Amino acid sequence: MLFDILTIFPEFFNGPFDFGIIRRARLAGLTQINVRDLREWTTDKHRMVDDRPFGGGDGMVLKPDPIFAAVESLTGTPDRASYADGTRVILLTPQGRLLTQMVASELSAQSHLVVICGRYEGVDERVVDAVVTDEISIGDYVLSGGEPAAVVLVDALVRLLPGALGSETSAANDSFSDGLLDCPHYTRPPEFRGMKVPEVLLGGNHAEIARWRRRESLRKTRRCRPDLFEKIELGKDDCDLLREFED
Ligand code: 6GU
Repeated sequence: MLFDILTIFPEFFNGPFDFGIIRRARLAGLTQINVRDLREWTTDKHRMVDDRPFGGGDGMVLKPDPIFAAVESLTGTPDRASYADGTRVILLTPQGRLLTQMVASELSAQSHLVVICGRYEGVDERVVDAVVTDEISIGDYVLSGGEPAAVVLVDALVRLLPGALGSETSAANDSFSDGLLDCPHYTRPPEFRGMKVPEVLLGGNHAEIARWRRRESLRKTRRCRPDLFEKIELGKDDCDLLREFED
């Protein structure tokens, strides 16, 4: 999977892709992450990427011409109807569709993502109308720019690439992949400052452990994220598990 990240702050990305799973996925050739300075596609002597908004108001707006030129050079066309299959052009903006695990999963199946880091003040709307296929937001709060969101997006997608995680099952067990939060985890020592690891985890009864994990996922979701809990369809086994705890 190829990422081309378009930004006015390329140095922002010195570091975040050089650790852990993302680094390993890059070294294994599962993904290539190119960070591109939008100024490369300016043609004026001041290399201007933004300008004042028509109609007045605060802040600066990213100009359309460098973005169109960049997208054309990276995809072969400045028209979203003509992109190759598997190519998406994403604008990171607080106005976008919320990045959920389902959206991450859909996007991780693509082969080429051009990721435009918006500025908080805005991006010329003709970019949205002609070249962007997906407007994405990472949450209902305001960031000064799309750069931190690009790091979040790349991480969420790369870990879903086949072979990116140590074991193929670990992504399936993550929080959200089945609409539930992950269960609690423990490691040694079995007792720490008077706090004990649940007994069931110390024995080798894998069916009991699986039941305990499911039950704790359900309880944690009900307690911490009632909005998610309402959306899941509980089977009879789940209802029985929850009845063991009426908290
Ligand atoms: Cl993608 N960009 C900005 N500027 N703010 C955000 C965001 C993105 N997602 C949430 N807030």
